[in-house]
Amino acid sequence: MTDPIVASALQAGFSDQFAESDVQLDVHGVIPPWVSGALVRNGPAQWTLPETGRFNHWFDGLAMLHRFSIRDGAVHYRNRWLDSRNRTSANRTGRNDYAQFDTDPKRSLWQKLTATLDFPLQFGNNDFITVARFGSDWVAVGETPTQIGIDIDDLSTKGLFEFKDRMFSIWTCSHMVPDPNRDRVYSFSTMGVPVFGRYHLWYVDGNTRRRTRFATVKDRHPSWMHSFGVSERYAVLTAFPLRCNTWQLFVNAFLGRPFIRTFTWHGEQPTTSYLIDRETGRVVRRFDLPAMFAFHFANTYEEDGQLVFDLAAYDDAAAIDRCRLDTLLGPDGGQFPPSQLRRFRVPLDGGPVMGPDVISDGVIEMPRFNDRRSMQPYRYVYGYSFDAPGRFYDRLIKIDTHNPDRDANYVHWAPPGTFPSEPVFVPRPGATAEDDGAVVTVVLDVNGAEPASYLVVLDAVSFTEIARARAPHRIPFGLHGAFAPSATTPGAAT
Ligand SMILES: [Fe+2]
Repeated sequence: MTDPIVASALQAGFSDQFAESDVQLDVHGVIPPWVSGALVRNGPAQWTLPETGRFNHWFDGLAMLHRFSIRDGAVHYRNRWLDSRNRTSANRTGRNDYAQFDTDPKRSLWQKLTATLDFPLQFGNNDFITVARFGSDWVAVGETPTQIGIDIDDLSTKGLFEFKDRMFSIWTCSHMVPDPNRDRVYSFSTMGVPVFGRYHLWYVDGNTRRRTRFATVKDRHPSWMHSFGVSERYAVLTAFPLRCNTWQLFVNAFLGRPFIRTFTWHGEQPTTSYLIDRETGRVVRRFDLPAMFAFHFANTYEEDGQLVFDLAAYDDAAAIDRCRLDTLLGPDGGQFPPSQLRRFRVPLDGGPVMGPDVISDGVIEMPRFNDRRSMQPYRYVYGYSFDAPGRFYDRLIKIDTHNPDRDANYVHWAPPGTFPSEPVFVPRPGATAEDDGAVVTVVLDVNGAEPASYLVVLDAVSFTEIARARAPHRIPFGLHGAFAPSATTPGAAT
């Protein structure tokens, strides 16, 4: 049975929150003045509709944006709904009219027929996963083929983000990878029709609003990959054996089955992986890794003639079902399979692939690192964690990947009754040490009479709390976010 503290966190974290606020917060502790900008987060905040009841899965909820603006040690909070097609329709009908991640839509025969041929109509654009930037434009991002433009300052929805190119796809990788050396963002989109599957890798330069497709990888049974790796010269795709039958994809479109139910776990198959040259678009190496599953890559880089990449990996895809709401709110809701930071090394001369090397015994999910080290060798990885089964994710973790002692190369930040979200690293200006900076996150605290949410600022070196600011209301468990430095958010902090 779930511990009562964990159960109350799960209840609070997965309950609808309708409040929209725009308010200055009291700060306890001192936020250094160089922590200046805004933590903008995305995530579901409504899982029940009046007519069709509760969605099935954490990843089905309607998106809400949250912004903690920090300037001169002061914190301002604002949150707003993302005005997606899904939410507009749900507000009008009280029903779920789209195939969500794991929930069927309620559709007429005619709607089913048209959805078979129109994937945006099938899935809508509930872009609830994170926020990203193309040039000066910010977007809310999900795995739907389209992104939604947002105003990063007031969180208003600007409408569909229109690209100038045409790229037909069924889903898009939500974890886009900015190139630290230029104003460019990498991602890929997946296409699947019967007997035909493709991963289209693309990038967008600055404000061009044009996706340049630089590689296409054929895969007749596309894998569900939530993230991928990009180094200075290469991209790497790890097609986990959680695969889609493209015939079933079309049948399910007609039947109205949700997205993730078109995928089947094939634990007897390898993780087929592709190393792709960013310049030529050529698959320079295809290699098999053991069967595994991961939501998230950490860093990817080249070192000593090898392509190195780190994943927060599981032995199988069971974690997806653990995120169903009836499971999360059931008697064992806090139980999650442990994910570990696993490293793979791919020799660029064609030698045998090395790994997985388990970097640490500390459980890690939502891995983040100092983005200035993106595509370079790096040392520290931050994430959320647990240290005993059944605790959901009740602590943050910092892993020192240079310390080979798996037992002792990590530290936790774990106040009792506190359930954090993804930690985001903010570098101190002028820093030379990789971990010289702050870690910002949002926590759900169930110690008081009512659950409360806080922005928490940690010193990244000591991994201890230096300040927190209480939000005006409980914030449900969201997913990812970004720290937008003040330079891109003029006048936004107060
Ligand atoms: Fe993610």
